[in-house]
Amino acid sequence: VLFRRARFRLAAHELRQLPDDTGAEVAFAGRSNAGKSSALNRICDQVGLARTSKTPGRTQQLVVFDLDGDRRLIDLPGYGYAKVPTSLRDHWRELIDAYLGGRQSLRGVVLIMDSRHPLKDFDRLMLQYCRDIGLPCHVLMTKVDKLSRGDAASTLLATRKEMGLLCPGATIQAFSSLDKIGIDEARRAIYAWLAD
Ligand code: GTP
Ligand code: MG
Repeated sequence: VLFRRARFRLAAHELRQLPDDTGAEVAFAGRSNAGKSSALNRICDQVGLARTSKTPGRTQQLVVFDLDGDRRLIDLPGYGYAKVPTSLRDHWRELIDAYLGGRQSLRGVVLIMDSRHPLKDFDRLMLQYCRDIGLPCHVLMTKVDKLSRGDAASTLLATRKEMGLLCPGATIQAFSSLDKIGIDEARRAIYAWLAD
């Protein structure tokens, strides 16, 4: 119910444009085109909430969605998209690093990985980063609709095992925005952070 209340609030190019750093928020991170915005829309049960695109690099700011009171979800810009000018890419990286490292109200990161390309360099960095600063991380292995059931299960097991070494305590689940797989499981994980 909480997630259905999500409303677009603002898109920030700079950290100072973000809402006051109070209350609780959860950020969606992942490589460009992994399916972050689609997952966010599915979890909030609102098709057009966050803008999705076939073109990688669609989300270029930190997009803030209000849930209720002082609770928020944040759609982070996709990481590692090659066709963006280097200066802009560096800016994103600094922005994301500063956000993750400095935001007091941040309760956890939902890391979105395409199940066909799990644990790319960025994902590894993000997991180690979460481990280093003690930030909870829950991984959605999305687009499992593109894999056979067997492949999805074995990829999940292998990724979970490797992830445990990079970031003990991080959790992982299968997900599909298209086939609505794992939606409630994801909601429960995020809700647990926001409810604390
Ligand atoms: P950026 O904002 O550019 O970083 O991308 P993003 O991570 O927000 O990805 P987005 O949600 O825009 O989705 C990228 C592409 O993947 C779109 O063409 C989506 O339709 C597709 N996609 C997202 N989730 C799924 C899924 O669960 N299954 C399938 N088959 N396609 C998906
Ligand atoms: Mg996006």
